[in-house]
Amino acid sequence: MSTVLDTEQATDVRTGSAYESLIDRLSQQSVVKHFDAYADVPWDHPEYRIDPADPRWELSDDDPLGATDWYKAQPQEVRARIGLQGIVSAMKTGLQFESVLKRGLLEYATTLPNGASEFRYAYHEVIEEAHHSLMFQEFVNRSEFDPPGMPKLMQFGSRGVVKLGRKFPELFFLFVLGGEDPIDYVQRQELRGEKEIHPLLERIMRIHVTEEARHLSFARHYLKRHVPELSFFKKRMLAVRVPFILGSMAGMMLRPSKATIRKYRIPKSVIKEAFDKNPEARQFVRDSIRKVRNLCVELGIITPISKQLWKAFGIWDEPGRPAVAAEG
Ligand SMILES: [Fe+2]
Ligand SMILES: [Fe+2]
Repeated sequence: MSTVLDTEQATDVRTGSAYESLIDRLSQQSVVKHFDAYADVPWDHPEYRIDPADPRWELSDDDPLGATDWYKAQPQEVRARIGLQGIVSAMKTGLQFESVLKRGLLEYATTLPNGASEFRYAYHEVIEEAHHSLMFQEFVNRSEFDPPGMPKLMQFGSRGVVKLGRKFPELFFLFVLGGEDPIDYVQRQELRGEKEIHPLLERIMRIHVTEEARHLSFARHYLKRHVPELSFFKKRMLAVRVPFILGSMAGMMLRPSKATIRKYRIPKSVIKEAFDKNPEARQFVRDSIRKVRNLCVELGIITPISKQLWKAFGIWDEPGRPAVAAEG
């Protein structure tokens, strides 16, 4: 299996033709390099079976919870189950996020005129996300867990995000990056790491990272092309709303779900030690949204006042500060 991970394509979008040709290239890649959730994943292969006690699910010392004495003191099977439940919860939340994304993309596509190249691209992305969600749900079904996914209130609020695809696509695509960028960052780090990954999880992550490179490239270039054309008022709206979106999403996706904490009775003090009072874990969150934060700086949608919001959510870092771990 290839160890090289696809990276995002980039272009200067100040000229309309460069933007158009990037979208055409992304659409073409969706034709020549795409995956089917069932044809391309050997679900029933004996090596792909999910055993909740498999030591490969265990959290490593690099994981904030995995590094705690509490976690290390658990029996091997419990350590493996906690690791697997974390993966399954993230997949459930991920597929709920992708549902919002798909519906928002379809709303966005309704605003496009005949002949728009974004229409074809948006439909390719909807199809790819549908296959991702099929993979994630199949993985959840084959584990013995029944994760609830996003909190109910957040599921309700997500309906408003769907409408943004039509009414305020620039804010919608910043929401998209807020979900996709941190997950992509985490998956790339895991695929490059030393730790042995279960082959089923590795297959799913490789498929996901390959196709996400296109989605991230589209969202970023869409924003670079369209945010400069927005009115002063709309840019100010982005400045205030984006840190709220990124601040609430980044924290939620990178820590254990409430269901995991309840099931294994993880003490509050352990969660505090692992995440809230752990400078490395807090830096990891900031690094995971570095690309989208730098984009916001480039787009001029961080004002002196909104920067205080970024700081209050613990997601601000000075631009140009290199991430702790290299990425590409
Ligand atoms: Fe996806
Ligand atoms: Fe995506």
